[in-house]
This record gives sequence, structure tokens and C-alpha cells, in this order.
Amino acid sequence: MPTPPLILLVSGSLRAGSSNAAVLGTAQAVAPSWIRTRLYEGLGALPHFNPDDDRDPLPAPVASLRAAVEEADAVLICTPEYAGTLPGSFKNLLDWTVGGTEICDKPVAWVTAAAPGRGQGAEATLRLVLGYTGAAVVESACARIPVAPQIVGEDGLITDPDVREQIGKVLALLAEGAAAVSRSE
Ligand SMILES: Cc1cc2nc3c(=O)[nH]c(=O)nc-3n(C[C@H](O)[C@H](O)[C@H](O)COP(=O)(O)O)c2cc1C
Repeated sequence: MPTPPLILLVSGSLRAGSSNAAVLGTAQAVAPSWIRTRLYEGLGALPHFNPDDDRDPLPAPVASLRAAVEEADAVLICTPEYAGTLPGSFKNLLDWTVGGTEICDKPVAWVTAAAPGRGQGAEATLRLVLGYTGAAVVESACARIPVAPQIVGEDGLITDPDVREQIGKVLALLAEGAAAVSRSE
């Protein structure tokens, strides 16, 4: 029996009670048994990107980030938009991936949790920056799933069954996309 694919879940928000973190926590909760998920929790510990530090020995949080990306079969990103673009802390994470090879050709998708008509700046920047990193965007798995605060329970997970189902579908599409990429290699 093959090992289930591992999807790394990366939130672009550091906020307690984040709607983006709710999407990813819910992804962990609804993941079918044939998909493994791992939540990346090191965003706040990453140092400011400095090319001078992008050499061995890497800062420990950067080494952990790169190892987590390397070990994953695919990456699912859920990030808010700040001031028309990505949050600085999350752009910092992406900058740290540029100097490594781990994200090259890695299947990646994103979920936009913003309300309809919002969040396009973050999506556009994410697509642009992922292009520079060489990540393989799995278009079929990228989705807009608005998450209003009312559908997030006290445990930080999404309660709406339709939204939970949509998040499960994203995971399945990303895992299938990752399998297709690995078959074509
Ligand atoms: C400083 C700041 C700037 C923001 N700028 C934008 C923006 O330009 N466009 C947008 O659609 N939402 C913007 N928002 C709203 C956030 O994207 C929104 O609150 C989102 O739900 C935050 O994600 P989180 O719940 O995961 O923390 C901004 C929020 C903050 C705090």
C-alpha cells in the first residue's frame, strides 16, 4: 500500500482567531484517510530574510521551513491580504524559499478565505511570487472559499458543512494534482 501523500498547510496570518488558520485547521479535521496533512507553525519564528544569512548553517527556523517543504508532496497556502498584497511576514517566508530548491516543481495551491470581491491583490502577488520560486501551481485546486466569522466555532474550526466539504475537495484535488506531477516526472 503506497504512503498517503503529505500536504503541508501554510497560513499567511499570525493572528489568533485567524480565518485563514481556521481553513487550514478545518483541512486537518476533514482530510480523508488517504491524505496526510501537516500544519506549518513556524511563520512567526522566521528571521527577517537577509541574503547574507542564506547559507549553511541556516538559521534553525529556516532549516525547519525548508525541511517541511521538502518532506511534503504538496503545499496548501491560505493567506489574508494586507494593504493590497501579501502580509510582510508571509512574503518573508516566501523569500526564504527562493534560495532553496525545495519548492521548485512542488505542487502548490491556495484557498482565498476573503469575502467576495476582496483578496485579489494577495492572490495576484502570490501567483507572481510562486512563479519566481518555481513552484508548480495546481490550478484545479485553487479556490475561493469565503469564511465569515460566524461560521468559525469556538474551537477555531469551520462549522458550515458545505464549506467543510469544499475544503475537503481542495485537499483531494491538490493530492490528485501532486500525483499527476509525480507521474509525469
Ligand atoms: C493591516 C490590514 C490591512 C488589510 N488590507 C486589506 C486589503 O488590502 N484588502 C483586503 O481585501 N483585506 C484587507 N484586510 C483585511 C484582512 O485581509 C482580513 O481581515 C482577513 O480576514 C485577515 O485574515 P485572518 O483572519 O486570517 O487574520 C486588511 C487587514 C489588516 C489588519
